[in-house]
Amino acid sequence: MKVDGRHYRSIWLEEDGWSVGAIDQRRLPHEFVVARLTNCTEAADAISSMLVRGAPLIGATAAFGMALAMREDASDAGLDRAYKTLIATRPTAINLKWALDGMRGVLRPLNSSTRADAAYARADEIVEEDVTINQGIAQNGLALIEAIAARKKPGETVNVLTHCNAGWLATVDWGTATAPIYLAHDRGHKIHVWVDETRPRNQGASLTAWELGHHGVPHTVIADNTGGHLMQHGMVDLAVVGTDRVAANGDVCNKIGTYLKALAAFDNGVPFYVALPSPTIDFNIGDGKQVPIEQRGAEEVATMTGRTADGRIETVRIVPDGSPVANYAFDVTPARLVTGLITERGVLKAERAALAAAFPERLASAAE
Ligand code: MRU
Repeated sequence: MKVDGRHYRSIWLEEDGWSVGAIDQRRLPHEFVVARLTNCTEAADAISSMLVRGAPLIGATAAFGMALAMREDASDAGLDRAYKTLIATRPTAINLKWALDGMRGVLRPLNSSTRADAAYARADEIVEEDVTINQGIAQNGLALIEAIAARKKPGETVNVLTHCNAGWLATVDWGTATAPIYLAHDRGHKIHVWVDETRPRNQGASLTAWELGHHGVPHTVIADNTGGHLMQHGMVDLAVVGTDRVAANGDVCNKIGTYLKALAAFDNGVPFYVALPSPTIDFNIGDGKQVPIEQRGAEEVATMTGRTADGRIETVRIVPDGSPVANYAFDVTPARLVTGLITERGVLKAERAALAAAFPERLASAAE
C-alpha cells in the first residue's frame, strides 16, 4: 500500500540481502521511521516492544528472526535457542507459532551449513504467501461489499466499521480486514470506514487511520464506545475485523473490544465478518476459551502518548496515582455472533465443518 504515494510493505529484506527493514509502528502516526533488524534478539525485541505487531506480521518477523539467527549460529542448539527466544515474545497470535514451526520443520533436517540460505528462502515464501493470501481475502470480501452496494441507491456510500488495526501494517501488505476495503476503493466503489480508536494502544486511531488516509480511503475515527450507537442509527452496513487466532469451532480471538462490537452488531442485525488468513486458524484448540489472553503493562492504560501543539511527542498519565489498572489485550467473540469468516478460499461459516472442508491440510498438520 502507499505512503506519500510510494509503495511500501511493512517488512522487507534490505538490499544488502540479509538485514531486515520494518516500519517502526511505535512512532506512527506522528513519525515515519524505518528500523533495521540485524540479529535474532532485535527481531524478538521488535515483536515484544510492538515495533511490529498484528498477527501475520508477527509471523513474518519471527521467520526473518530465525533467518538472522541462522547467520549467527546454525547449529541445532542455535536453532532451538532462536525458536525459544522468538516464541516467547507474544502469546496470543497463533501466526507466530505457525511461522516458527514451519521454519523449524524446514531447517531441522538440513546440514547446518545450508540452514541460513534455506531460512531466508522460507522466510521469503512466508512473506510472499501473506501477500497472496490477503489478495484472496480482498477478492472474497469485495463480493460482500458489492452485494451491499447493489442493495443501496446508486452512488450511496457503503459504511464499514473496523476495530484495531487489521490493515496492511498488521500484515506484509494489503491487510486482512482492510484488504476488501482497499480493493473496493481502488475499483471506484464509494466506501467509508468507521475506525474504532482501540484503547489502550490506539491501533485504530494511530495506524488504521494513518494507512487509510495515505491510501485515500474516506474514514472517521470514533471513540471505542461509539459503534453501538452508529449501528442503532443505520450508519454501519457491515463490520469487518481481523483476528489473532480462530479456534476450530470458529470462535474468534481479536483485540480487546471486538466482542462488544459483535454483540452490538448482532443486536442490530448488522453483518459481522472476520477476515483471516489460514495461518491464523488453530485446529489444535477446540474453542476460544483455550486461547491464552495476553495481559500487558499497566502503563498502556494509565497513560496516553501524543503530539503536542508545538510538535513534541509526550506521554501523560490519565489515571489517578495509585489506582490499580488491568490490561487484557484480547477477547473472544463466540462463533454464533460471527456472520462469516472471510478467508483466501471463500467466505465460510464460523464452524468447524466449514473450516475443515476449506483447509484440510491445516487440519491434517494440526493432528500430527
Ligand atoms: O496487539 P496487536 O496490535 O498486535 O493486535 C493484534 C491486532 O493487530 C489485531 O487484533 C488485529 O485485528 C488482528 S491481526 C490482523
